[in-house]
Amino acid sequence: MSLGAPRIHFRRVDSTNERGRELAQRGAPHGTLITAGEQTAGRGRQGRIWSAPPGSAILCSLVIRDHPRMLPLCAGVAVADLAGPDARVKWPNDVLVNGRKVAGILVEGRPQERWAVLGIGVNVAVRPDELAPELRESAGTLGLRRQDVEPALERLLERLERWIAAAPEEMLEAVRARDALVGRRVKWAGGEGEAAGIDGDGRLMVQTDSGRVALEAGEVHLG
Ligand code: BTN
Repeated sequence: MSLGAPRIHFRRVDSTNERGRELAQRGAPHGTLITAGEQTAGRGRQGRIWSAPPGSAILCSLVIRDHPRMLPLCAGVAVADLAGPDARVKWPNDVLVNGRKVAGILVEGRPQERWAVLGIGVNVAVRPDELAPELRESAGTLGLRRQDVEPALERLLERLERWIAAAPEEMLEAVRARDALVGRRVKWAGGEGEAAGIDGDGRLMVQTDSGRVALEAGEVHLG
């Protein structure tokens, strides 16, 4: 398996993505995996923080060289496979189970240097009462045991390899089959409308009052 070696594990670290970026800049090979039992400055999207109780979550980052253009979607569908048949992907890559977010994905990189760091946090064994009060409505967990975290990581790496290697159209079909937004009202910084699926470039199509638009990136909220 090309993802996961070499592996550097920290019992406690600021952010696995931060370590991943540093290693990527120093020439770490494709597939280098950084994991942590606990993060003190876990990074989320849009400048948010990402936190998880120690030992209960997958907290990992991978150095990916010459990454596919739709890496965030590949990661979303890989995490959804781990989360089970009921998991849905909320474009671009939040993974929901029963409408609750069980995993977050943060891709950071330097396309001009042809590397990306793929950071993934999955609430594998987080108990609902351990979630921060402000997240209790929206966050979820896979409801597994702490000893399941490592096997879940193995499975995640296997699914990631599969989807990174897949033909883009096959990967997009898998994302579409799990699309949490299609047919639903969505809002984003620039407007609102009804989600109309994911196009061949991985963009979210939205039917608005003034026509169809395709969102390239960013975040949408269920209306
Ligand atoms: C999101 O906001 O949905 C993305 C969250 C990404 C969190 C993961 S945890 C492992 C990796 N290291 C970080 O600092 N962030 C990502």
